[in-house]
Amino acid sequence: MQCQCKYNQLLKVFVFKKQNNLLITMLVTTVGCFLYFAFGSNLLKERLHLANPTATFVSTGRLKDYKLNFGLWGENVTTRWHGGVGTIEYSPGAEVWGVIWSLNNEDLANLDSQEGVKDGFYTPLTVSVETDKGPVVCRTYQMNNFYATVASPQYKEVVCLGAVQNNLPDEYVTRLKAVQTNNYTGPSLRDQIMKKVKKIITTHTIPQKCNET
Ligand SMILES: *[C@@H]1O[C@H](CO)[C@@H](O)[C@H](O)[C@H]1NC(C)=O
Ligand SMILES: *[C@@H]1O[C@H](CO)[C@@H](O)[C@H](O)[C@H]1NC(C)=O
Repeated sequence: MQCQCKYNQLLKVFVFKKQNNLLITMLVTTVGCFLYFAFGSNLLKERLHLANPTATFVSTGRLKDYKLNFGLWGENVTTRWHGGVGTIEYSPGAEVWGVIWSLNNEDLANLDSQEGVKDGFYTPLTVSVETDKGPVVCRTYQMNNFYATVASPQYKEVVCLGAVQNNLPDEYVTRLKAVQTNNYTGPSLRDQIMKKVKKIITTHTIPQKCNET
């Protein structure tokens, strides 16, 4: 059964959160879904849906005082992306734009698994994300043992596609488009995702916005 977390429910949770951190977890579970703030490849719906089929769009949002980094959880780590992947770092005055997704609780384990929580790659984090309807409390993930690594063009492309698909501010998309890559050419997780994205590409203007470097 699809569950859609709504602003009013989550704003209530936000008030409780200020009083008691334990209560927020309980309330989100009671509602049957949770909100997730994505800023990397999970900006793209088709990518997130590979492992998390219940995800539905709630809003775009801005995480204040964090910056977007690309890296890996150690030196010489290899992944299906062939380069660094996104994470956030506390940085007063900076901002990270992203997409707030509502996921059924049944996808919580899938999302944690995708983010490699048990393997120690990422740690879940609770953040307050600014939206045009006020602050929203979300789950997000931060990389452990961060080792700065340039992203592959394939990873960058998926991030850019997601940013455009969900209408992140043009200025932020421009910043994403300026991200340096390692010029990797070869198979990657992107290939699997793009089979599902084809339809968007033919009906929208995404390629023009994302393939420019
Ligand atoms: C990573 O690879 C470089 C080059 O092969 C090597 O010098 C370095 O020791 C490696 N680091 C780790 C932590 O394995
Ligand atoms: C990737 O290619 C661009 C354009 O040719 C070049 O400027 C850049 O240095 C290359 N990056 C790497 C990591 O090789």
